[in-house]
Amino acid sequence: MDTHEALLTRRSIRKYRNTPVPEELITKVMTAAIWAPSGGNSQPWRFYVASGDRRDALVRAMIDASGPDAPSPGEYDAMAKRIEEKGRNEGTDRGLMQMGDDGKALGFLGSLRFYDAPVVIAVTGKGQKKGSAGQSIGAAVENLLLAAHAEGLGACWLGIPLRFADRIADMLNIPDDETLATTVCLGYPDTGSSINELGWATGRSRLPFDQVVHLVS
Ligand SMILES: Cc1cc2nc3c(=O)[nH]c(=O)nc-3n(C[C@H](O)[C@H](O)[C@H](O)COP(=O)(O)O)c2cc1C
Repeated sequence: MDTHEALLTRRSIRKYRNTPVPEELITKVMTAAIWAPSGGNSQPWRFYVASGDRRDALVRAMIDASGPDAPSPGEYDAMAKRIEEKGRNEGTDRGLMQMGDDGKALGFLGSLRFYDAPVVIAVTGKGQKKGSAGQSIGAAVENLLLAAHAEGLGACWLGIPLRFADRIADMLNIPDDETLATTVCLGYPDTGSSINELGWATGRSRLPFDQVVHLVS
């Protein structure tokens, strides 16, 4: 896949297959992340890539942190099935937030359980909080998402889990001098699922080019 195609076809993936991601693929994707540009080449990012038992324990901790209303895995699967069916029957040119209570729950609670993806990546900022650190970390995350997509993997950038940042830091032994910046989930997309055709708040289109790009000369 060439770069431009990857840029235009990458989408947030919210339904995954159980298939584990081979370590060499994880290494390839994370190598793309660390070659992102950063302010003064400060490379303020650190990545904690959780899979296997550690990822399972992290998901359990997040479900626990979500409180008594968090759906059991069975209830979550049933909810996902209902949304999938709704997407198939009513079309996918809209977002989860437009699909009633099930859609909202799937978006928020699904984010907290990293959409059941086999790999969870916590991204931290290390050292002094320079003004540019957030931008640099954002560039690294975008590299990661694009590299994953180019390798046939799917990913979703997840800010919602930050509401339990302390829990994530505990579970992944993140040192005190690092601050959790964001999280990403990664795995093989469930390509048959209509959930992966839905956007978040609206459809997946973009604002018209002329509205957001001003060619000034
Ligand atoms: C900073 C940031 C935080 C995000 N947090 C979440 C999240 O918590 N849950 C989620 O499902 N998607 C999250 N997303 C994904 C966006 O919803 C998605 O990128 C946007 O709707 C555009 O869709 P696309 O990625 O498929 O092009 C986040 C994206 C960014 C950049």
